[in-house]
Amino acid sequence: MIAYYDPFSDKHRKKIRRFRSGDDLVDGFINEEAGELHDLCAARTRLYFDTEDNLVGYFTLMPTTIKLSEQTRIQWELGTRRIIHPALHILYFGIHEEYKLRGYGRHMMRDIIHMARNFAVDIGCRCLVLEVKRDNNDAIAFYEKMEFVTIEEDEPYNKMALRIAPYTVEELELME
Ligand SMILES: CC(C)(COP(=O)(O)OP(=O)(O)OC[C@H]1O[C@@H](n2cnc3c(N)ncnc32)[C@H](O)[C@@H]1OP(=O)(O)O)[C@@H](O)C(=O)NCCC(=O)NCCS
Repeated sequence: MIAYYDPFSDKHRKKIRRFRSGDDLVDGFINEEAGELHDLCAARTRLYFDTEDNLVGYFTLMPTTIKLSEQTRIQWELGTRRIIHPALHILYFGIHEEYKLRGYGRHMMRDIIHMARNFAVDIGCRCLVLEVKRDNNDAIAFYEKMEFVTIEEDEPYNKMALRIAPYTVEELELME
């Protein structure tokens, strides 16, 4: 069970060094880049711990804008002709190998969605976006379970998104 989360911090350095998600990019980022970006407020990283104080996972978020195709805009009933939309970018997301398939990823994603809905109310946010390697079938299966859809197919990354809008501000506030 997740007990608490903490912002990225050097006090967790030992646990961060032992973090293994099975994806080299995810493991490399948390060790080499996350701290600097976090300190600069260029991207923020949150670490999740279980009741025994094990580091079970982390994610890194940054604000972004995305261009949605006319077709996606219409499919998503976004109701404005603008093609550039505010979004929240999930830059990295990983669960330690020992703790996979126990619902931790879902728990963390729920927190991100909650955050994105608050952004939508306060500053505007149309969707969550992320890039995933086309051959990362585990992550794709997970994101699809979380109701993300592929909005752009490219090599070697696909872009996936989860719609946060078109809920109105009133509807989003009621969802809390
Ligand atoms: C992808 C990842 C984040 C999933 O985290 P997790 O904690 O194992 O996922 P959860 O246990 O919360 O699973 C949530 C749902 O996704 C499904 N799911 C998770 N991993 C899956 C997989 N490999 N294959 C199929 N479905 C999967 C689960 O079955 C579950 O569905 P359910 O609730 O209907 O049973 C984790 O495997 C991981 O960290 N992978 C390595 C790092 C990585 O690739 N990150 C993404 C980079 S873009």
